[in-house]
Amino acid sequence: MLSVREIEVRAGARLLIEPASFTVSSGDKIGLVGRNGAGKTTLMRIMAGEGLPAAGTVQRKGVIGYLPQDPRTGDLHVDVRSRILSARGLDQIMTRLERYGAAMASTVGAERDKAMAAYAKAETEFLAEGGYGAAAEASRIAANVGLPDRVMTQPLSTLSGGQRRRAELARILFLGADTLLLDEPTNHLDADSIVWLRSYLQGFPGGLVVISHDAALLGETVNKVFHLDATRCVIDQYHLGWAKYLEQRETDERRRKRERANAERKAAALMAQADSMRAKATKAVAAQNMERRAERLLEGVEAARTQEKVARLRFPEPSPCGKTPLSASGLSKSYGSLEVFFDVDLVIDRGSRVVVLGLNGAGKTTLLRLLARLDEADLGEVTDGHGLKLGYYAQEHETLDMSGTVLDNMMAAAEDLTPTEARTLLGSFLFTGDDVDKPARVLSGGEKTRLALARLVVSRANVLLLDEPTNNLDPASRAEILHAIDTYRGAIVLVTHDEGAVLALHPDRVLLLPDGTEDLWNPEYIEWVALA
Ligand SMILES: Nc1ncnc2c1ncn2[C@@H]1O[C@H](COP(=O)(O)OP(=O)(O)OP(=O)(O)O)[C@@H](O)[C@H]1O
Ligand SMILES: [Mg+2]
Repeated sequence: MLSVREIEVRAGARLLIEPASFTVSSGDKIGLVGRNGAGKTTLMRIMAGEGLPAAGTVQRKGVIGYLPQDPRTGDLHVDVRSRILSARGLDQIMTRLERYGAAMASTVGAERDKAMAAYAKAETEFLAEGGYGAAAEASRIAANVGLPDRVMTQPLSTLSGGQRRRAELARILFLGADTLLLDEPTNHLDADSIVWLRSYLQGFPGGLVVISHDAALLGETVNKVFHLDATRCVIDQYHLGWAKYLEQRETDERRRKRERANAERKAAALMAQADSMRAKATKAVAAQNMERRAERLLEGVEAARTQEKVARLRFPEPSPCGKTPLSASGLSKSYGSLEVFFDVDLVIDRGSRVVVLGLNGAGKTTLLRLLARLDEADLGEVTDGHGLKLGYYAQEHETLDMSGTVLDNMMAAAEDLTPTEARTLLGSFLFTGDDVDKPARVLSGGEKTRLALARLVVSRANVLLLDEPTNNLDPASRAEILHAIDTYRGAIVLVTHDEGAVLALHPDRVLLLPDGTEDLWNPEYIEWVALA
């Protein structure tokens, strides 16, 4: 159980949430929603005990399982199974069992007796913790979130960002928590895993708070919705399921809009009156008061206006290039003994649109990284065509310099950009005022995505490599990205689980991994997208 009393949330000096109270008890399934940068992640970190509120208290009872939005970077040498088992402290007992088991097999006499005794002791502890059943449960959960058995013995360092996040999710679910706090749990999951997660969360008997932009997940799992309104800095608590919430919220928004229109009308009337009174010296003070009242009325209206804006997004006009700006032949890549793909050829013509499909771990991100020259292929080569200008959008935002400010990141993206131009452009991506001086590290998930995309826009790239560009985005920002993809005139190589993004791309070809088979696009492939 979680009990939140009068907590006030700030980011630096900025107020995100005015004092708010609520509890999360068993059976509460709460969807926490709100636009990018509203403060959802910040609030959840505080609930999980990883951040402190500016005021107020959080009380926690029982075991809390928290999945952060960004994958943590812990010890990457441990293998996936140990990482998941560590949730219940089983990893160390498992390691001891394996060590003493091996010792029993390779020793004799007194040594062997000692190993046997140690083994028996470890096994007793193991059984007390749920033992073999628990280990099997861990494997089952892992398989359900898309981590097959062969991955279980790999160290975390060899996993893709998406796989690492799955391992974290599996670990949290294996924990057996009383309360689950999940920040965008469907990022990086394939369709099967998402369906499984939905039914898991439906049947979960404890308390749940989930941040998600996935309407289907919210529709099927939550019985309450907390809407974090970034304009008013309050949490609107709806004790309704998702569909009812949407209706109610629309009614509320309409009412607020009416109220805003009224405020504007009133303010205009006050101003007019103030103007007519200012002429008379005796009424000057009254006129000033009226003006101030009008300004106060308008303050709220303005804030609402700016908050409702979304980034108007357009990808760059591509700089000129030859007929085939990028091509690759015979690409092969392995991580240790695991072969990701073998002998893949790809030709990207000017303005062509390719979607890369393949099951999880089939190497989609790896392929883009090879094309972007961030990794070396084991065999084969990538060839630049005449005039190539690449723009790479990375799933994990690793193209951003996290210690640099928003403005630094922007300036680094194009050589001839002046600070003023950079600020103007950032403004159109909704980074205004002090926002541009924030270090990229503190940005919200959606803000990082916006910054990375803004960098692409100034680059005049003629080939864009896009890896899951719609993750983390609120619906309005997602719609903008889709529009930008739709209207961009250069070539795009797209990796995504988002069917809408593929439709916006109007692909002319697909590349199927790990085989590397190329095919002309046909609408039947859309079913593969969600599977990928
Ligand atoms: N240390 C900090 N200094 C300044 N601003 C910060 C700091 N930490 C967070 N912020 C800002 O606080 C706001 C809320 O961030 P948060 O990550 O909680 O948003 P969110 O609702 O989770 O958004 P998203 O949907 O994009 O994940 C953002 O505008 C972010 O840039
Ligand atoms: Mg967030």
